[in-house]
Amino acid sequence: MVSLFCRKRGKGGSAHSRAGTRIWVFIVMAPVLMLLAGGGVDGCFSRNGQVGYVGTSTCMGCHDGRSATDMRHFVEGPHNRISCETCHGPGYQHVRAGGRGGILIDNPAKLPFAQSANLCSQCHGSYVENYRKTTHATAEGASCHDCHDTHRKGGFRVETSGPPHADMNIAKNLCGQCHASQTEQFLTSGHAQIGVATCISCHDMHQETMFTANPVDNSLCLQCHGSSFLGFNSQANIDFHTGDFHPVDPAGSGASRCITCHMPALAQADQPFAGFDHSMMTIPPALTNELMASGVIPVPPNSCAGIAGCHDSNVPGSGLPFDVNNPVDNSFLQEVYEAIGELP
Ligand code: HEC
Ligand code: HEC
Ligand code: HEC
Ligand code: HEC
Ligand code: HEC
Ligand code: HEC
Ligand code: HEC
Ligand code: HEC
Repeated sequence: MVSLFCRKRGKGGSAHSRAGTRIWVFIVMAPVLMLLAGGGVDGCFSRNGQVGYVGTSTCMGCHDGRSATDMRHFVEGPHNRISCETCHGPGYQHVRAGGRGGILIDNPAKLPFAQSANLCSQCHGSYVENYRKTTHATAEGASCHDCHDTHRKGGFRVETSGPPHADMNIAKNLCGQCHASQTEQFLTSGHAQIGVATCISCHDMHQETMFTANPVDNSLCLQCHGSSFLGFNSQANIDFHTGDFHPVDPAGSGASRCITCHMPALAQADQPFAGFDHSMMTIPPALTNELMASGVIPVPPNSCAGIAGCHDSNVPGSGLPFDVNNPVDNSFLQEVYEAIGELP
């Protein structure tokens, strides 16, 4: 890619502001341009002495859905103040070839994964830097353009309305494409149904941890539930909810950790990990047994046995008897479960 400096337009040269007029000029001029294409065009369309640039209006002459992919929505997108060629490189050769087959033009989507964010880092340095530390980058799971459509209003690959945090479409159609089970569970939750939280209320795609706050010390949930309106605004209130026998535990065994009970891991040591339950509803001990009896694999452990093995007799020193892989009568555990969960 050429340097940013070369691609700067002069004042008033903003591509989109004149796109309308220029498209018409282009349509009228097109045959002439094609004739000239053998030579001389570079001169008229060079910028700052850089040959090979043709300008956004020329691109739009074809990319209006008639002879090439429709990009007219670009004028409403977040990048409408920069030119097509800022990101796609000089387009003269591409235009001269009539664009056929999309040849002779840079397409960032065709770069190797590790390089695909380089273009964006020229202008969004800190976003790219943080993104590179996330699992999405390290596991080559999702690149910038898997989530963002730089040409589209809102800047996402999916249609959005309003700010991203208020938009369930991001959960359903963007994250959901790659994280089907979490999304399916999440959509059954009160959070999704009332529309009060979405994936990105908890997961920040541009933080190394991929969280908006710490799930381990409860601050993730308390961002919202810590308000007096939602009740968990004091340790006493949290203790009340989790039962006297589950005191707040700063050292972090997790006894009063929201996610231990509300997001148990959906698999055990000898079963494939199936993620943490995103329905946010606790799983009663009795349900585990029912599901096991009906042959569900992996058996979702209940909120008491959980991944921490708090009440799993497989784990030495665990409290009440219960083996999630070979459940014995757990009616006592079920009774204890029923004594928990009153809202403050
Ligand atoms: C003469 C018509 C024409 C013009 C002018 C034109 N294109 Fe294209 N372009 C095409 C056609 C045809 C394709 C291939 C089919 C498609 O993607 O619609 C294409 C494909 C592309 C692709 C996809 C490449 C790929 O790897 O698949 C990009 C990116 C692109 N054009 C960018 C541009 C840019 C930027 C400009 C302005 C510098 C431009 N085009 C001007 C006709 C044109
Ligand atoms: C901010 C950078 C940026 C700008 C500005 C930009 N593009 Fe793109 N373009 C991309 C990236 C990244 C991709 C690959 C990912 C994708 O398809 O969105 C792409 C892909 C494309 C494709 C292939 C899309 C497809 O569906 O096959 C076309 C065609 C295209 N751009 C044309 C244009 C035109 C025309 C303009 C100007 C009106 C433009 N782009 C402006 C970054 C940009
Ligand atoms: C030449 C500089 C430049 C490049 C390269 C660039 N951007 Fe941008 N981007 C901008 C500007 C300027 C804005 C508008 C910022 C604003 O409105 O506050 C923007 C806005 C955005 C937004 C915010 C959308 C919104 O509605 O607020 C996203 C998302 C984005 N860019 C993603 C990308 C991605 C992904 C790439 C790489 C494919 C990229 N950008 C490449 C300059 C650039
Ligand atoms: C193009 C596919 C794709 C999209 C889109 C996508 N992800 Fe991912 N995501 C992955 C892959 C692959 C991984 C790494 C493997 C894994 O843990 O599943 C991952 C990992 C994660 C992780 C971390 C898992 C861990 O163990 O560290 C979180 C959290 C996550 N994604 C959330 C999201 C959210 C929220 C969205 C929507 C804003 C989203 N993802 C969109 C593919 C995607
Ligand atoms: C897994 C999906 C995903 C990936 C991958 C991703 N982003 Fe984002 N990005 C988002 C979401 C969701 C938001 C909105 C966050 C919010 O508002 O809290 C966002 C926000 C942004 C913003 C700010 C937009 C604004 O409204 O201010 C920019 C800029 C941006 N991303 C650029 C990038 C760049 C550059 C890359 C690649 C290095 C990238 N993103 C990779 C999902 C993603
Ligand atoms: C973005 C704000 C926000 C975040 C973050 C959040 N919640 Fe909520 N949650 C709410 C709101 C608002 C309600 C609805 C309360 C009501 O209707 O009384 C709710 C409802 C709930 C419910 C009842 C849902 C139902 O299906 O009836 C549970 C359980 C819950 N949240 C648990 C959690 C847990 C556990 C976390 C952390 C992992 C969390 N929440 C994080 C805002 C949030
Ligand atoms: C020791 C286990 C445990 C812990 C820790 C725990 N909860 Fe609960 N919670 C329950 C049980 C059991 C219920 C009642 C059954 C249900 O609704 O899932 C419940 C119910 C709720 C409800 C009401 C659900 C509804 O249907 O209206 C909310 C909201 C909630 N918890 C939020 C939290 C938050 C926030 C935290 C962390 C501060 C937390 N819980 C910690 C076990 C726990
Ligand atoms: C209320 C907060 C909250 C919401 C909303 C939320 N998550 Fe999560 N998510 C978490 C927590 C907490 C973990 C990690 C649990 C742990 O590590 O104990 C997690 C873990 C994950 C993981 C890692 C694998 C797994 O299942 O543990 C992925 C992927 C993921 N979430 C995707 C999503 C997607 C996609 C959405 C939206 C459909 C979403 N999350 C909504 C809190 C949330």
